[in-house]
Amino acid sequence: MNENLIKKKYKNKIKSLDYYNQKYYNENISEISDSNYDILKKEIIELEKKYSFLKSKKSPQIQVGYKPSKNFRKVPHKVPMLSLANAFGKEDLRNFEKKILNFLDKKENFKIEYSAEPKIDGISASLTYRGGKFSMGLSRGDGKEGEDITENLKTIKDIPQLISKKDFPQDIDIRGEVFIQNSDFKKIKDKFANPRNAASGSLRQKNPNDSKKIPLRFIAYTFGYEKGMNIKYQSEFLKKLKEWGFKVNPINKILCGVDSLMSNYQEVEKKREKLDFDIDGIVYKVNNFETQKRLGNISNAPRWAIAHKFSANNGISKIVDIDIQIGRTGALTPVGKIDPINIGGVVVSNATLHNEDEIVRKDIRINDEVIVERAGDVIPHIISVNFDKRGKNSKKFIFPKKCPSCGSKTVKDFNYLTKKEDSVRRCSSEGFECEKVSIEKIKHFVSKDAFNIDGFGKKIVEKFWDLKLIRLPQDIFNLNYDNIETLDGWGRQSVNNLKFSIEERKKISFERFIYALGIRHIGLENARLIAKFLNSSKNFIMLSKNKNFSELLNIDGIGETQVNSIRNFFSNNTNIKIINKLYETLDINDAVQIKKDGVFANKTFMITGKLNGVSRAEVKSLIEKNSGTTVSSVSKKLSYLLVGEKPTKRKVVTAKDLNILIINQEEFFKMLNK
Ligand code: IVH
Repeated sequence: MNENLIKKKYKNKIKSLDYYNQKYYNENISEISDSNYDILKKEIIELEKKYSFLKSKKSPQIQVGYKPSKNFRKVPHKVPMLSLANAFGKEDLRNFEKKILNFLDKKENFKIEYSAEPKIDGISASLTYRGGKFSMGLSRGDGKEGEDITENLKTIKDIPQLISKKDFPQDIDIRGEVFIQNSDFKKIKDKFANPRNAASGSLRQKNPNDSKKIPLRFIAYTFGYEKGMNIKYQSEFLKKLKEWGFKVNPINKILCGVDSLMSNYQEVEKKREKLDFDIDGIVYKVNNFETQKRLGNISNAPRWAIAHKFSANNGISKIVDIDIQIGRTGALTPVGKIDPINIGGVVVSNATLHNEDEIVRKDIRINDEVIVERAGDVIPHIISVNFDKRGKNSKKFIFPKKCPSCGSKTVKDFNYLTKKEDSVRRCSSEGFECEKVSIEKIKHFVSKDAFNIDGFGKKIVEKFWDLKLIRLPQDIFNLNYDNIETLDGWGRQSVNNLKFSIEERKKISFERFIYALGIRHIGLENARLIAKFLNSSKNFIMLSKNKNFSELLNIDGIGETQVNSIRNFFSNNTNIKIINKLYETLDINDAVQIKKDGVFANKTFMITGKLNGVSRAEVKSLIEKNSGTTVSSVSKKLSYLLVGEKPTKRKVVTAKDLNILIINQEEFFKMLNK
């Protein structure tokens, strides 16, 4: 065959392949059987191997799937993609179950049924199906907003493109994990550290060349938004997923009681090595959807599920030195520098020593031989010292009484609740006066749950700090981009991307704004409570002026510790300047009140005494879901005092004096059901 004829034959085959790809990935039409499609691909590849002059951008050796998108558009998840709390042992599981029983106001012997599912270590994705057709696929992103990776997901064979089963919901987001099987990973292991990285890189690749030949898999396990689904249990849902054409985990189980959870855990852990995919624990979910709904979420994790992580891996090493790290709250954390060791495939060279007391309690000294533990994503730590190996060169560590960064005195707070001194020693400077604290505060400010500025990671904060480009959070919104463009490793495109991410985040929710300030004791949940109570950032600024901090004590969940911390924060001039400047620069959205027109709109409740068959936490969440608020003290502003068994007499008397409506549990539920 002459060269021209070969080229023609090759071109025709490429054209056919492109046609089938286009039909399959864009129109969801399969015009060729899987085996014939594979034969066609093989023929093309064989021709390319035999004749080096054959080249095409559309070669199956280059292109995976059909035109994976280059820029990922951000799309909000209709229902947020939550994360899971971790459990590391039986005690954590007991606590998990206890909290559930308390919330539901059930006795200890009440049986909760769980769906136990191996936790695949991959990348989660949410697949939207409309009328049975796979119409959009999003990555998890920050849980609220994902990236549109539809085209990349369409290249995964385990993801059905069209589902025509009658009972498949009209509109549903199917969620699960994208991963790479270990046997497939072996073929590409030189390019990636582990299968998870390979899957992540491949799924989010902007250039299809990067992921060629990497077969991704998908296992489904939950759903987000849904319309028209009539399923009552997770176990039933998993069964349906299978019928609808999804792959589900082959070792899912239904179990009751912490003891059976533990024995299943041990069984699966033994099997772990033999599985063809990496799992890093077991996820337990309350099986009944109605109960899941009642339990709801705490911040960004459900109350009804937990991830039981596999036991840690240990290793023996030597403490070479002890460094002090300074956190954003000024906490001094000792970190053991150890001789690098490989624990479960990860090289570990640092281990946290937690705090001063921990070093004394475990008697850890420089040059000691130690046992190091690494569990899941948690920072490795020292379990114990091998005292029989202690030599003459072992050296006690003197904890610094002055901050290594700014020289201020280091202090231990007195905890009025426990009536004890804190075990953590802190830099006594006020935040932005200490260099290391400032850097950590800015890292927190840009972090995922705060401003979530894409491409502004910890390393960039450090670099920009060194270059004196940033000193305070507001500097982020006034960067000199021309200057940055001239820096090593930066170019027009990367600067534009950074500028875009920063501009995009000038619009921010009130709760994220509060959280981003990094006020001690004000985590995500407390920031949310304060935002909801104050409603707008204007009121936050007012608070900084009128200093009426005790009004925050009305928030159920906020106590003296938090209020004192806020008072401290506002007593510092730099902090005041920061919030004023940010308030000027940013567009801070008012707090989202869950539902403004619920039956309890503008009503405040206070609960006293024991309720029957329902926990206080659940009543509180019912009030909030119906636009009401719960407060923690009786005042004129209170609408209802909900009284259970054995109430605090003083509260009832005060409420009567103030002419506040006193209701019992029955009356409360009547109001709710009206
Ligand atoms: S359920 C609220 N089920 O674990 C429910 N997640 O740490 C959250 N994961 O982002 C998801 N296997 O990537 C669920 N059977 C399973 C899972 C699973 C793995 C991952 C998922 C999630 C992460 C949470």
